[in-house]
Amino acid sequence: MSDSKLPDDGPIRRRIEDGVETFEATIDGETIQWDAGLTYSRHLQTEQLLTSQAPVSDKPDEMLFIIMHQTMELWIKLMLHEVREAMAALREDKLGRAGKTLDRIATIMRHMIHSWEVLATLSPHDFMTFRGFLRKASGFQSHQYRELEFLLGLKRADLILVHESNHEAKERLTKVLGEASLYDEVLAVLARAGHEIPQNKLTRDWSQPYEASEAVEQAWLAIYTNPEEHWGLYMLGEKVTALEYYFQEWRFKHMKTVSRVIGHKHGTGGSSGVNYLVKALDLSFFPELWAMRTRMTAPKEGGDYSECPHS
Ligand code: HEM
Repeated sequence: MSDSKLPDDGPIRRRIEDGVETFEATIDGETIQWDAGLTYSRHLQTEQLLTSQAPVSDKPDEMLFIIMHQTMELWIKLMLHEVREAMAALREDKLGRAGKTLDRIATIMRHMIHSWEVLATLSPHDFMTFRGFLRKASGFQSHQYRELEFLLGLKRADLILVHESNHEAKERLTKVLGEASLYDEVLAVLARAGHEIPQNKLTRDWSQPYEASEAVEQAWLAIYTNPEEHWGLYMLGEKVTALEYYFQEWRFKHMKTVSRVIGHKHGTGGSSGVNYLVKALDLSFFPELWAMRTRMTAPKEGGDYSECPHS
């Protein structure tokens, strides 16, 4: 398609480029260009994004509360996408590619952990000004958060109950509950690499909670005891461990921020509040990767101190 010049519109120079009306102006000595084909706001849907903050009170601090939740929801959306990418790579035994994606997820998590600092500027008084307006709305009802827990490997069917009236969320969560998780894919990689993973860990009813297995722990132990021989799987184990490590840190910062803002009051979602959040700190996605660490032993090496005088 040929380019053609159009009449200038004041300081704005116009032309057709690739069949699209294109604009150019000199701003602060720079040649700035844009076109009618795809603008920043059309690509990023900024109109929709920036009109999606709908406070239910007239209290100024509610905006921080809304935007904190919305940004976290966006990051969770990206993590869901990236976990699926990592799982697809694992299914093809592309450990390097999966590792790069797992690193990105861990970086998102670190960013989210740090962002609690912004919410920590919400004092108990600030929150109380609008808490009553929230009625029973609570992060407990975040279907994306639950999907992420399911996708990583923590399957808890009863948590879908709160989505009874949201057909789409209920269907999506039920589907993810019944599919293999990231950890299930990791164990399949171990099995294909020749490690003895029990058959009931490789094919099972995925909607049931994962139960830790001695054989899986032994497989991780073998990998971690001899990393040089199993470098790819060893790095995979470390990258997956990092995800749980950061997820728990996110949970901890949430719990601590909540305790700073509402003390030990019940949550808007009806739970015991901080006590409920503390219980979640014991949840584990990849139990054997943690248990195995206790079993690792150091080789008896080092100086011979047998001749040392007793003092
Ligand atoms: C001042 C701010 C906040 C307070 C006081 C607060 C309080 C609570 C409480 C008490 C719970 C337990 C359930 C309940 O009874 O409501 C909860 C759960 C939850 N909150 Fe928050 N929260 C805050 C900010 C956030 C933010 C910014 C997010 C980001 C998405 C978030 C996500 C969640 C999630 C996902 C759960 C469910 C956790 C689980 O089931 O393990 N919360 N929150």
